[in-house]
Amino acid sequence: PTPRPVIVAIDGPSGTGKSSTSKAVAAQLGLSYLDTGAQYRAITWWMVTNGIDLEDPTAIAAVAGKPEIVSGTDPAAPTITVDGVDVSGPIRTQEVTSKVSAVSAVPEVRTRITELQRSLAAAAEHGIVVEGRDIGTTVLPDADLKIFLTASPEARAARRSGELKGADVHATREALIKRDAADSSRKTSPLAKADDAIEVDTTELTLAQVIECVVTLVEEKRAGK
Ligand code: DC
Repeated sequence: PTPRPVIVAIDGPSGTGKSSTSKAVAAQLGLSYLDTGAQYRAITWWMVTNGIDLEDPTAIAAVAGKPEIVSGTDPAAPTITVDGVDVSGPIRTQEVTSKVSAVSAVPEVRTRITELQRSLAAAAEHGIVVEGRDIGTTVLPDADLKIFLTASPEARAARRSGELKGADVHATREALIKRDAADSSRKTSPLAKADDAIEVDTTELTLAQVIECVVTLVEEKRAGK
């Protein structure tokens, strides 16, 4: 029998291996995949490109509904466009990374993006792995499985600077801690572990081990354990 769609929420701070894990788990289990950080980066990219004053939450709120953001949910080739433009590259720049916390703290932005996330999750035929900061707490509180990934700040900074190819580990660590603090302390749906989430500390684990751990948890859920 075809298993019913399974909804998996994977939350945690940056540098915990969230994206690599979520993508691999989705691919392995034949599920869709959604990177919600990419959506917040995409709306931030649009605001930067259109010269919106990011110091002014009212200005951000006023245009939160304007850009059309479309996410492709194939884990083998995730895509993201804003008004039809592929922004997969531009959303990873230092400029967008340093501004995304300010934009994603605005309630009107969160409401807008949360709606997109819920409709993509509802449309996923075989189920979906959704990764972010508030998926288990706010976006999909009824998810079948909630995972909260953690790792020491040192491990997270080392992974991020590896991804950024040669970036200074110390500076990366400072920037990452600052962004996590902003994401965790904002009023509207901060980065948080849901009460019913399973916490996985990835500090001492390889990516392959984390993937295996999550795949096993999903399979146990599907088997009704
Ligand atoms: O996962 P990431 O680094 O690409 O996320 C970029 C930013 O987007 C992160 O600093 C906080 C924000 N974000 C959020 O507020 N809620 C989410 N569900 C996902 C990301």
